[in-house]
Amino acid sequence: MPVPFIDLSRLVKEISADVLTDWKGCLERCEFVGGPSVTAMEKKLREVLGVPHGLSCANGTDALIVALQLAGVKPGSKVALPNLTFWATYEAVAQLGATAVLIDIDETDLQMSFDEFTKAHAAHKFEAALLPHLYGWTSAHLADFRAFCKEHHVFLVEDGAQCFGVEVKGEPILKQAAVGTVSFYPAKVIGGAMDGGAITMQTEAHEKLARSLCNHGRSDHYSYAHVGWNSRMGGMQGAFLGRMLDKTAAVVANRRKAAEMYREKLAKVSGGKIKVWGPPAGVSENGYLNVLTVEGKKGQELVDKLKAAGIGAARTYPETMDIQPPAKPAIRFGDLAKSKAFCDRVVNLPLFYGIREEEIDASVAALVTAIG
Ligand SMILES: Cc1ncc(COP(=O)(O)O)c(C=O)c1O
Repeated sequence: MPVPFIDLSRLVKEISADVLTDWKGCLERCEFVGGPSVTAMEKKLREVLGVPHGLSCANGTDALIVALQLAGVKPGSKVALPNLTFWATYEAVAQLGATAVLIDIDETDLQMSFDEFTKAHAAHKFEAALLPHLYGWTSAHLADFRAFCKEHHVFLVEDGAQCFGVEVKGEPILKQAAVGTVSFYPAKVIGGAMDGGAITMQTEAHEKLARSLCNHGRSDHYSYAHVGWNSRMGGMQGAFLGRMLDKTAAVVANRRKAAEMYREKLAKVSGGKIKVWGPPAGVSENGYLNVLTVEGKKGQELVDKLKAAGIGAARTYPETMDIQPPAKPAIRFGDLAKSKAFCDRVVNLPLFYGIREEEIDASVAALVTAIG
């Protein structure tokens, strides 16, 4: 049985009738950039994420760039980030002319290593940091990162592109983030009908600045307080995301259950060879990704075999930041060996809203055959 890596239609079909009605209204009102649908979506978003302040923007990469500007990051600034993340995390730092300080991962939770982070801070005194919450969970040391950054005046931006619906000790993960970001790229846990993003924060002053930065740095229609960007959301996207946000609890529960099913089924067939990675204690995952490694096997070899068997497997991520040619100017802290080793081995099996148990079974069986 072929299994796609992702099938967005299983979720989209559940909201499409309502969305079409909403979109008809947007067209009739010519509600194209901003407007009531975006305002209503932003309110819902703040409620779902449990944050006092937050706004939408054009995509998750812009959200990172604007968040770093809230931190005052500029040419010459140093910003810490993990050596294993999506390229946008690096890109946001480089786009502002700042220097990235690349930090190795923690081999227990696959997130940026807190231990290496504190050592890198002593050596390089970075003034800001990007902490991506990757794979559908977060670091076991989230509270330590927040406390350390507060104490050492490091402006911490939490990249929440992959963690929508994750809970830490029963609370939405970004609730306590000084500044957090969201990506509504369609393949995310809560995805849009096109690119989209959001920035969350604790203070009104940060929200005001972020709103201005996302809208050409305006202080008034033709007066400008900053050199900003055009990073605004359209009405039709706002309406679509409003409908998606209503489904957050059901989507996260469904994905979590599928992630758990993989864990149980793979434990039974693996003879201890397959490791399915997951959240540290106190963290509830959102089922964004299935992340596994197989003892003695290269990830690429397994993914090639899975794809040949019709299973839409992937590798998040096959390469680290430090080997990308545009990352030449970055500061590399330590040997970054753990992130490099993990890239070689990682495999992701299909995991999405509405995946059926027989599709999970087919993916598990194909992996067993691929292992040989
Ligand atoms: C960790 C991480 N950061 C940033 C982004 C960028 O978001 P976007 O694609 O919406 O620009 C993504 C996803 O695409 C991501 O996974």
